[in-house]
Amino acid sequence: MFEREKRGERALLIHPQAPGVNDLDALEEFAELARSAGAEVLATLNARVDRPNPALYIGTGKAEEAKELRTLHDIDLVLVNCTLSPVQERNLERQLECRVVDRTGLILDIFSQRARSFEGKLQVELAQLKHVATRLVRGWTHLERQRGGSIGLRGPGETQLETDRRLLAERVKILSKRLDQAERRQAQSRRARLRNQIPRVALVGYTNAGKSTLFNALTGAGAYIADQLFATLDPTVRKLAGLECGELVLADTVGFVSNLPHELVAAFRSTLSEAREADLLLHVIDAADPQVLERIQDVEAVLAEIGAGDIPQIQVFNKIDRLEGAQPRRERTEAGAGERVFVSARDQLGLDLLKSAISERFALARCIARLVLGPADGRLRARLFALAAVRSEHADEEGWTLEIDLPLAQAARLSAEFPSFAAQLGDVLASPVEEWEQPDSAEPSP
Ligand code: GTP
Repeated sequence: MFEREKRGERALLIHPQAPGVNDLDALEEFAELARSAGAEVLATLNARVDRPNPALYIGTGKAEEAKELRTLHDIDLVLVNCTLSPVQERNLERQLECRVVDRTGLILDIFSQRARSFEGKLQVELAQLKHVATRLVRGWTHLERQRGGSIGLRGPGETQLETDRRLLAERVKILSKRLDQAERRQAQSRRARLRNQIPRVALVGYTNAGKSTLFNALTGAGAYIADQLFATLDPTVRKLAGLECGELVLADTVGFVSNLPHELVAAFRSTLSEAREADLLLHVIDAADPQVLERIQDVEAVLAEIGAGDIPQIQVFNKIDRLEGAQPRRERTEAGAGERVFVSARDQLGLDLLKSAISERFALARCIARLVLGPADGRLRARLFALAAVRSEHADEEGWTLEIDLPLAQAARLSAEFPSFAAQLGDVLASPVEEWEQPDSAEPSP
């Protein structure tokens, strides 16, 4: 619906920072986002902002400086690394005499270029419409206030704005409905998978860490890869066969980025639902990134935000080909918090180690416990028998006492479905790490 201008716009970046902060990495990341959207970064301007100016966000002096740079470099797009209010955006546009886009607008633009599936496209358009709608509506009320409701000023301009607003609202309604249907379809296929008890693994990680490359290397699929941020917007789901533990479902997800505007996290929640509903997360990390620790924390923060903070993880340190002397290997993290595998997805190094780490997680991690079930737990009991998880059973007038033995991932899924199961097994499921067997060898594969 929204036609974008041709790419390759000549851009000036404005990077507002609190006093005493000089975060060049954040600026470099913003420049990378800009390039990812197709802009040509010709100049950058650091702006110290003690308290955002309500009219412009940056100070008037900085705005003057920006205007000079705009003329000097023949800039046609100014990108500001913060969230601007609609009024600030409009004022800056007026003052700089060119298009101004804030961080949210830029990320939305990138999303709109990357969306590939039907659902992804709907989500992006919806988020864009909502973003535009706040600007349009507030812009309109602002004009209305100026006019003071005077007679004779209700001309075609206002009618046009009203029409635009109505059209936007209708479009939002249609899109929300379609999205709802698409989400329901996705949920149905997820439920079908659940019934089949196929364990689910999701690749998550900071943008550009190499998730799609790893996804392809593991599944042999030709998913889209590009050395651009956000190359993946839609979850791509494939079966991962040839593992000792049997078949798995592997999902690729959208790359995370620091300071992802909150409304975007919400807009892309179903893209991330593959992560939220996974039994295991492969947290892909660019081992050669100088900011590796911050990136890990950024991803952890988003995972917590979408309710995936407690899902077991394997940290996959990728791109070891870029680290001198690094070999593929597996290691435990301190305090039994998880496991790390060092690989190169591009050069297909360490993939066997990763596959066995995944496999062991599902095949070896078992939940062995004693359960006491009451008359209300008939359905759970039937399910445990259907899964061949019951080792022995003893019945008395109060109910059944069962000895069960089943893969931990299955137990985790059952506990999500049956609260009484979760209540009895809470401790077991919360500390699965002790149950893992040590890998036979942590040596690098040839
Ligand atoms: P987003 O979709 O933006 O989240 O990115 P992603 O995490 O899916 O990354 P993707 O697989 O698209 O890879 C990003 C870039 O890193 C591409 O240029 C890949 O070729 C490169 N890359 C991926 N894996 C490796 C690796 O093991 N070594 C090296 N040197 N480069 C790699």
